[in-house]
Amino acid sequence: MQPDDTKLQFDERGNLRHFLSLKGIGAELLTQLLDDAERYLAAPGSLPIRSQSLAGRTVGNLFFEPSTRTRASFDLAGRRLGADVLNLDVNTSSRKKGESILDTIYTLEAMHVDVMVVRDASDGVPAYIARHVNDHISVLNAGESDVSHPTQGLLDLMTIRQHNDDFGNMTVAIVGDIQHSRVAMSASEALQTMGIGELRLVSPAALAPDADRFPGAHIVDNLADGLKDADVVMALRIQRERIGNLDGVPGINEYFANYGISHDSLVYAKPDAIVMHPGPMNRGIEIEGTLADGPRSVITKQVTNGVAVRMAVLDRIGKMMNAR
Ligand code: NCD
Repeated sequence: MQPDDTKLQFDERGNLRHFLSLKGIGAELLTQLLDDAERYLAAPGSLPIRSQSLAGRTVGNLFFEPSTRTRASFDLAGRRLGADVLNLDVNTSSRKKGESILDTIYTLEAMHVDVMVVRDASDGVPAYIARHVNDHISVLNAGESDVSHPTQGLLDLMTIRQHNDDFGNMTVAIVGDIQHSRVAMSASEALQTMGIGELRLVSPAALAPDADRFPGAHIVDNLADGLKDADVVMALRIQRERIGNLDGVPGINEYFANYGISHDSLVYAKPDAIVMHPGPMNRGIEIEGTLADGPRSVITKQVTNGVAVRMAVLDRIGKMMNAR
């Protein structure tokens, strides 16, 4: 993100046009998006809630990194709002033949794709695309390197708010590879905007973040202090694909013994603390399998909320487009 990219997200009337980062999204808009998302939650077993705010529009999913939940939920969210959804198969796309990202984007633009949902391993790609597309196109960030994952931040905030909406008196502990985690970045931004009481980032020294990337957070190197009286515990995967040199990173058994979220380690947290994980999970490394499947886990709720928040964002973009 460059400094003016937070402004790039809004059109001249102040409407959300691109969704690139949670930086620059205030508490009021975050709350509105979560309230909108709540309305897209259907009772289990009933038909999903639908609307037509994207009828006639085309959403293109461009995932230049692997994805299960984010891609599937953008796909379903677009369809449930009445859009056509194009899932570009990146492994067989021309970018593998050396085509530049902008040539791929201009090709989709020529096919009348209105919303481009982009995941990429390099910093700045969603904002770069947003600066180059035609005025009528919106770009949504579906995961940018280790920098940001704004819809994940929204769904995490929604899941936490369903447990407890008193952010000012809450302690959230995010545990794992904080240094390489875009999930930790976006969750922290959302929680700080909402005035979180205490945010702890817990990891071994080799995976600890740069303190100035997380202003206001407490960086902790052991689980007992990190989880003490926490209301929310979020476990993260070690981002091996982003770690050049694994020196100093604990092996699997050592990691699970010292940083794994398990029935044993959760005793430090509040008795009603919830357990979160963005997925994909490595059971037995960052989280104990039976805990992930148990009553304190809200991991499948996060997935359900993921579709709802993506519908809320797409709905807002669709209404902005229809008002033009
Ligand atoms: C995360 C991601 O891709 O950043 N997954 C997700 O979107 N749910 C987390 C991860 O890959 O570990």
